[in-house]
Amino acid sequence: MKHLIDIQDLSVEEIDELIKVANDIIANKEKYSPKCNGKKLATLFFEPSTRTRLSFEAAMLELGGSVLGFSESSSSSVSKGESVSDTIRVVGCYSDIIAMRHPKEGAPLVACQRSTVPIINAGDGGHNHPTQTLTDLLTISREKGRLNQMTIGLCGDLKFGRTVHSLINAMSRYQGIKFVLISPDELKIPDYVKTNVLDKLGIEYCETKDIEEYLPELDVLYMTRVQKERFFNEADYIRLKDYYILNKAKLEKAKKDLTILHPLPRVNEISTDVDDDPRAKYFEQALCGKYIRMALILKMLGIE
Ligand code: NCD
Repeated sequence: MKHLIDIQDLSVEEIDELIKVANDIIANKEKYSPKCNGKKLATLFFEPSTRTRLSFEAAMLELGGSVLGFSESSSSSVSKGESVSDTIRVVGCYSDIIAMRHPKEGAPLVACQRSTVPIINAGDGGHNHPTQTLTDLLTISREKGRLNQMTIGLCGDLKFGRTVHSLINAMSRYQGIKFVLISPDELKIPDYVKTNVLDKLGIEYCETKDIEEYLPELDVLYMTRVQKERFFNEADYIRLKDYYILNKAKLEKAKKDLTILHPLPRVNEISTDVDDDPRAKYFEQALCGKYIRMALILKMLGIE
């Protein structure tokens, strides 16, 4: 049985195949509607979520399956002191596949060791978020027609932003990718991402505080929220939360075919006046999240 804990659990060929299936689902929705009849997805969310949990649930429902789960750990036996490992083992008796989100880095890895059904990491603390990355890759490939030969700007909270860590990991495996890492000093990309991915694979990247400096060179601009819940001190959060605000005026210097992404939720980092710009693709991205999760559920359940 295979779990999806880290985006590295999937080969480039497997990722490309998932994108192909997701595109086929988009083009032929009816064909897929009975594929998961009789199957159950459990969504165990120990941390808040809108898109990830609901897109997983919508994905399973559109495949003809059912969903169960919880969206707050306070409503589960975790609040009585049950371990994640025990919870997962029990939920495996009631479901065929589990998507879980947890505030502790590594919790899904621990959970999958005793699980009787496939586990999908739907975000673990400030660490990884592989299914958001699959969503991002589907969106980029649909917008650009390719996943190689491009310059990607990642802006905001690169320290705690798990979506950024997984996206760097995935995109670094395609040819001709350059990263511009835009963050305040306090929220720079962790050293382990540089050592284990960027430096190890010899990926070209630069770090800057200034969002406008490299904007004209970017093919993709990936904005992120400052991750309030991971800060130890509220004063630091307040000081950094509005460090970047992308607006229409700043975008004048950007390429005409820039793709602007954001995993959402947005707080202030993209002004709403950008939403009507044809380059803003974050709501399309949220929709891609449902289709790629449909493809992923099929793959993990071994359904053709
Ligand atoms: C992201 C997450 O949970 O890491 N949201 C999501 O899954 N779409 C980004 C965030 O919360 O900032």
